[in-house]
Amino acid sequence: MNYRHAFHAGNFADVFKHALLARVFDYAKRKDTPLRYLDTHAGIGLYDLQSDEAQRTGEWRDGIARLLDAPLSEDERALFAPYLWAVGAPSAKDLTVYPGSPLIAQRMLRSMDRLTLCELHPKDIGLLQNNIGRDRRVKALHIDGYMALKAYVPPVERRGIVLIDPPFESRDEFAVMAKACLQAYAKWPIGQYLLWYPAKDTVAVKEFHATLVDAGVKRALNLEFQIEAAVEDGPLVRTGLVMINPPFVIEEEARVMLSALQKYLGRNRGSAFQINWLSRD
Ligand SMILES: C[S@@+](CC[C@H](N)C(=O)[O-])C[C@H]1O[C@@H](n2cnc3c(N)ncnc32)[C@H](O)[C@@H]1O
Repeated sequence: MNYRHAFHAGNFADVFKHALLARVFDYAKRKDTPLRYLDTHAGIGLYDLQSDEAQRTGEWRDGIARLLDAPLSEDERALFAPYLWAVGAPSAKDLTVYPGSPLIAQRMLRSMDRLTLCELHPKDIGLLQNNIGRDRRVKALHIDGYMALKAYVPPVERRGIVLIDPPFESRDEFAVMAKACLQAYAKWPIGQYLLWYPAKDTVAVKEFHATLVDAGVKRALNLEFQIEAAVEDGPLVRTGLVMINPPFVIEEEARVMLSALQKYLGRNRGSAFQINWLSRD
């Protein structure tokens, strides 16, 4: 477990993932019944952008900092509003910390909703618990997120969102993530699942998508965003998210959001995005 999210907090992949997560969360809250948010790979929840790790890579400067200072249109601003509200800084110069997925969810939570956060790293779980603070709506557990997914789905609320955001340190992560998601989906087919992935190995990504479709997943929207042209053996420049059972409007909204990310975060002509429903063809 060597992966440290602190190096990447607030980068283009975080902006992409968290802005879409916040949008989905915002829709889920429009129904007047409780919901559960399960984060299988939570991280520490809040990242100091002055830390050695964040300063060393400076990735957040090309991610959240750029979005905060972008001249967003009214439509774009409305769609990013839940995310930007959760980030809580009016402009890049006010940004000192960046919230991870647990804190974004915590900030969006109503009193009737519940959060289950899983983090396996022995040190990070303590940091996560500290960053969450005392909040009876939230449980941060030192547990394998894939095991938790098996145990806690379907939630008592019968309604909610699962984020699966593993570190992709092991070669079989795509297969493990797909298997865990499919087991949960079989038990709870109406849950909303968001599965993050690095879109680097196109063969692995194709196989991952095919695994979900072949197992009978019905409504899965795939979104990818690339910040710049890829170079061989270079850093990650393309990121993806599979949304199972997303709100109907998200396809159109995501088109506006990803086109804004391309415009304001994209470097050179290599920036691109793609949105498609997963299907057998
Ligand atoms: C990509 S980071 C999570 C980032 C977080 N979801 C966010 O968006 O702010 C992945 C995290 O998963 C943790 N992790 C690795 N394997 C795990 C497992 N099997 N179960 C739970 N957490 C795990 C790592 O320690 C790391 O903090």
